[in-house]
Amino acid sequence: MKTLEEILPRIKELDSMPSVPAIVQPLTALLRQNPDRVKLEKVVELVSYDSTIAAQCLRIANSPLFGRRNTETVRSAVIALGITRIEAIVLGSCVNRIVPHDKWAMDALTFWRHCLGCALVSSRLAKLIGYADPEKAYLAGLLHDLGILVNMVICAPEFRVGIQKAHESGIPLHSSEHQHLGFTHCQSGKILAEQWHFSSDVTAVIEHHHDVINATSACPLVAIIHLSDLLCRMRDLGYGYYEAMGVDLAGDAAWALLVESYPALVKMDLARLTMDIDGAMEEITNVVNAVFKPEPAVAR
Ligand SMILES: [Fe+2]
Ligand SMILES: [Fe+2]
Repeated sequence: MKTLEEILPRIKELDSMPSVPAIVQPLTALLRQNPDRVKLEKVVELVSYDSTIAAQCLRIANSPLFGRRNTETVRSAVIALGITRIEAIVLGSCVNRIVPHDKWAMDALTFWRHCLGCALVSSRLAKLIGYADPEKAYLAGLLHDLGILVNMVICAPEFRVGIQKAHESGIPLHSSEHQHLGFTHCQSGKILAEQWHFSSDVTAVIEHHHDVINATSACPLVAIIHLSDLLCRMRDLGYGYYEAMGVDLAGDAAWALLVESYPALVKMDLARLTMDIDGAMEEITNVVNAVFKPEPAVAR
């Protein structure tokens, strides 16, 4: 078991890993500007620097979710996807690289399936309840478990035990991390999110998606990601094992918090909501498959 203070220097080392900050920082700085002022050509240029990210943009732009547009250039993929989704792809791809192949204690595809699933469910849920920025919900859903990657890298042996015990006992992963590492992916993820200058809203989601009641900012967003994470784990988009949890969405503190912010939700039929999410699963699988296909040649 380690304390957060002990692991802090190792999280700082993640900053110097090749290709992670090189793309993240200029691109997030660029995309953080007023949307009307973001220069398309500059985004295309930055995306083109990185063949993996460029290929992912093309795959997703050509996936069934975007109507298979026959998008062949990075420029047309950027236009088809839109700036916020590009940011999500870039950040998702960059955080993926912080874990060397031999450190994946969990099946990488299972992990990204969960993150992409949570991103898509979060933006769907955000739209359904009338949250003003569904794209931000998508990004926060994609990145909410950043700390799992951190833990895989900096505490590999303890994390392996933590995930194995979670598999055996069916307890939530964050509870098992608490027992076997001494901290959770929420705490370590928050440290890296601050280090990488993620927005305060996304950082709040990373820190509090498993304890919504302690969130002090971005509460509706934290609640949306919390519920989407639960829905994914209930619907075979979790961490690759059966979690013995009784989920009562209507009785969940996150739902109560959302109803407080959006009073019209009192009338929402939660059964219909979960059916809608179920209906999205094929779409989610298509996107995940598009992301993990072999890379095509990239034209600028
Ligand atoms: Fe989590
Ligand atoms: Fe999660």
